[in-house]
Amino acid sequence: MSAGRKYDSGNAYWNEVADKVGGYYLIPKLAEYKNQEYIDLIEKWGVGTNKTILITDLYEAVFGNTGIYDYLNGISTDILGMDISAKFCFRAMDNFKQQNVEIGIISGDATMAPLASESVEVIISPSTFDHFPQIDLALKECCRILRPGGKLVLALNSSNNPFFKPGVRLAERVKKHEYQTDHFYSVKQATTLLKQAGFAIGRSTAIMHVPIGLTTLIEFFDGINNPITDRINGMMIGACRKWGRLNTRLKLFTGWWIVVEGVKR
Ligand SMILES: C[S@@+](CC[C@H](N)C(=O)[O-])C[C@H]1O[C@@H](n2cnc3c(N)ncnc32)[C@H](O)[C@@H]1O
Repeated sequence: MSAGRKYDSGNAYWNEVADKVGGYYLIPKLAEYKNQEYIDLIEKWGVGTNKTILITDLYEAVFGNTGIYDYLNGISTDILGMDISAKFCFRAMDNFKQQNVEIGIISGDATMAPLASESVEVIISPSTFDHFPQIDLALKECCRILRPGGKLVLALNSSNNPFFKPGVRLAERVKKHEYQTDHFYSVKQATTLLKQAGFAIGRSTAIMHVPIGLTTLIEFFDGINNPITDRINGMMIGACRKWGRLNTRLKLFTGWWIVVEGVKR
C-alpha cells in the first residue's frame, strides 16, 4: 500500500464503480480463456459434485460473462454468488436469468459474510480479496463459513509474476483505470495469510498466462476482425493455455493470478 492513497472497500465505492464501468476489461476471446483457466483448475483440483459452493464476487456475470458460474451450475444445484455491490448483484441476476443459470445471489461484504458458520463446502474466490486491504478478515470469514474439510480456492493478483503489477499499472495509464487494484500477493504470502486465518494449505498454482505485450497484440488483432488475425489469435491463446497445463512451478512467474488452496481443518 503506498502512503497517502485513499482506499475504499465498501458498498458505496463499488456501486460507484458499477455506475462508471463501461464494459468488461477483457475482450471476449480472453474472457473465455480466463473462464477456461478457472474451469480447468476446478476440474483438476476436483472440488466434487453437488457441494454447496460460494463464489465471492459476481463481476464477470455483470458483463454477461457467466461461463464459470454456468460450469459450477452443472456440477451442483446449490451455488451462491456474493458481491458487496447491490448494483452488481442486480445486473448479474438479470444476466443469470437470461442465460438460465440458477444461482442464489447474496449482496454482502466478504469481510462479514451474511452466512451461517459451517454452511458451505467450497468457496471459489476469483481475485476478490485483492481489491481491498482487509484480506485477513475475509479469509477468517471463509474459514468460519466453511464446513470442516471444506476448501477455499483463493485466486489473487500475482506478485510472483514480476511483469504483472507493472503491466496493470501501465494499462491503467494508457487504457483505463476503472477500480482499485492495489494488492498483489506471492504464493508464500497467500500461504501465510491462509495459515493465520486457520487453514491447512493444499495445492498452489498460477493461471492466465498471457504476457502483457501479447495481450495488447491479441486485442489489436481482434480489432482487425479478419480470419487470418483471428487464427493467429487462436494460436497464441492456445499456446498460453498449453503452457498453463504444464506441470512446472515456472508457471508461477507467468500467471496473472496465483491460486492457493486452503482446507478448513
Ligand atoms: C473488480 S472485481 C475483480 C474480480 C473479478 N472476479 C476479476 O477476476 O476480475 C472485484 C469485485 O469484488 C467485489 N467486491 C469488492 N469488495 C468486496 C467485498 N468486501 N465483499 C464482496 N465483494 C467484494 C466488487 O464489487 C467487484 O465485483
